Amino acid sequence: MIKRYSFGHVFQTDSIPVIPEAQTGAVPYMEVNESEMSLTYTMDPEDIVYGLGENVRGINKRGWIYESKCSDESKHLEDRRSLYAAHNFIVVDGREKFGLFIDYPGILTFDVGYTELSTLKITASDWNLDVYVIEEDTVTDIIRSFRRLIGRSYIAPLWAFGNGQSRWGYINAEDVREVVRKHRENGIPLDMVYLDIDYMERFKDFTVNKERFPDFADFVKEMKDQHIRLVPIIDAAVKEEKGYSVYDEGIEKGYFCTNEAGKPFVGAVWPGRSLFTDMLNKEARDWFGDQYKVLLDQGIEGFWNDMNEPSIFYAEDRLADALTEIAKMQDGEQNLDLDAFTHFKNLVLDLSANPEDYKKFYHTVNGKKIRHDQVHNLYGYNMTRAAGEAFERLEPDKRILIFSRASCIGMHRYGGIWQGDNKSYWAHLLMNLKMLASLNMCGFLYTGADLGGFGSDTTEDLVMRWYALGIFTPLMRNHSEMGTRRQEVYRFTDLEGFKNIIGLRYKLLPYLYSEYMKAVLRGDLMFRPLALDHPDDKRCRTIEDQLYLGRELMIAPVYEQNARGRYVYLPERMKMLRCTRDGRIEETILEKGDHYVEVPLSDVVFFLREGHLLPLSRGGRCVDDVDFEDLSVISFGEDAEYEYYHDDGFTRDYENPANFRVIRAGQK
Ligand code: GLC
Repeated sequence: MIKRYSFGHVFQTDSIPVIPEAQTGAVPYMEVNESEMSLTYTMDPEDIVYGLGENVRGINKRGWIYESKCSDESKHLEDRRSLYAAHNFIVVDGREKFGLFIDYPGILTFDVGYTELSTLKITASDWNLDVYVIEEDTVTDIIRSFRRLIGRSYIAPLWAFGNGQSRWGYINAEDVREVVRKHRENGIPLDMVYLDIDYMERFKDFTVNKERFPDFADFVKEMKDQHIRLVPIIDAAVKEEKGYSVYDEGIEKGYFCTNEAGKPFVGAVWPGRSLFTDMLNKEARDWFGDQYKVLLDQGIEGFWNDMNEPSIFYAEDRLADALTEIAKMQDGEQNLDLDAFTHFKNLVLDLSANPEDYKKFYHTVNGKKIRHDQVHNLYGYNMTRAAGEAFERLEPDKRILIFSRASCIGMHRYGGIWQGDNKSYWAHLLMNLKMLASLNMCGFLYTGADLGGFGSDTTEDLVMRWYALGIFTPLMRNHSEMGTRRQEVYRFTDLEGFKNIIGLRYKLLPYLYSEYMKAVLRGDLMFRPLALDHPDDKRCRTIEDQLYLGRELMIAPVYEQNARGRYVYLPERMKMLRCTRDGRIEETILEKGDHYVEVPLSDVVFFLREGHLLPLSRGGRCVDDVDFEDLSVISFGEDAEYEYYHDDGFTRDYENPANFRVIRAGQK
């Protein structure tokens, strides 16, 4: 049961498609303090607090303070309070069981036992919000109800479940050709190569650099003939440049955010001085969405939307002030003591994403001006919505791949997200795993992290272990930052090992796609904490390094360097499946309890639950190669059966009953 409680004048976020009637009376479970603008709950020592989607730390969010504030946050360290998203949904599971969603576009704080160990306190920056309380018998049902409330998650095309290779640094067609050639030569499956900002002409959205890609449409076709899709990046900010059609048109029509004086607000991102489309204004949003057509017309079928928190390197006024002040310092003795040096340093460091700058520009919604900071968390959502809505208009019979960096709940209907600029840290491999569960709760199913780590130099073993997790995530992409060690798998020594691990992804595709689609269509979790299926098993309530994947599988990746294996807890009897470096899958039955499992670097070990069955394809060098009908099965139990979902992978007839069928052990 879902109850909505409304306070103040609520801005319509469109996080929820059909808003239920508001209740009167007190909000259950929570103590509301309007003058403090807070909601408080006293947690029991045994309570788990799930949720908050994309954020740092564990699946159980207790013990830290989080902020819903979409931020360009590249460190992902434990002391951060927010990443790129604002996912305001939590579930308390313990003495009492309920879900809580705060529909609110501004900055919110979730203090989950940080200030006081047993106090959960949610504080808003103003008191105009909707509070949803969700009560069901189980955590799974609470999440299901919530997911029904927020609407069906985005569905990616089937090809987007292939292996993708990316790097900030593939600058021309030759670079891309080489990536494809190396994968094909070495028999490593590949479906996508991503184009980062260098494909554009001086970082201008919806342009292609003609020197680097002389005939882009031809090149897109050349790649597609090899079953490779190019996936270009689109940034939120539009370069200020007369003669650049997107800029000229946006100015002429008044589609950019404005400052207090009503002039376009100027901040800088990759191209230098830039403007920000008013994504909250429907007309401007439609216009921005229509811009994708220029690339769709050249054969592009997928995009990633970036820097849409929005990230601002500097605002023009702040830069001018900082430069003036630094110039003044030049006249002095140039002997900076601690305070003076800190001031000097901060003049530069505070330029980027300064909270004060978010108070300096405005959106126009239904003819009314709204200051950006009050609706900050809706920006990335609406950029991706611009794209998603445009794709429905422009390509009604085709699914287009789109995923975003910034998001809030609601955006999950229009696109997926990637987990942003992680680093080549072992800790970030584990964070990738944990975040999958939290993201699924908030409706984000097409998701994954930069495999191998985006920032910092990686190592071969980290990349390999990361792939052993990444092959299970819907978005599977190796991406890295310019200047870091190259990390395409063919650069390393154990090519056979990589080939085997990535090859397994293609064998698992029928299962992964089927589980993804069922989770989307039914509001279920594709990745689940163990405790959701074993609420009475105390051990499961604290396990954060193993997840269920669909009804059938459990994954338990190795996430420590030099580990030769790991301890795995089985809440029930399971069949351990070990994919060895020659591509065989060994099956061993293990009893309920703790097991030390050896996992050599190039093996992938995962688990099949009793009474269940896993369908496998024969693999392929790309998704187009995979035969989704020619399946073998691994079963655990004679009566095991599997509900298999398959469709054509690119049209939108998702609910057609013909897409579902039951596979039984001993049958195809
Ligand atoms: C941002 C993105 C990253 C991309 C880079 C350059 O940091 O998060 O993925 O490579 O910008 O476009």
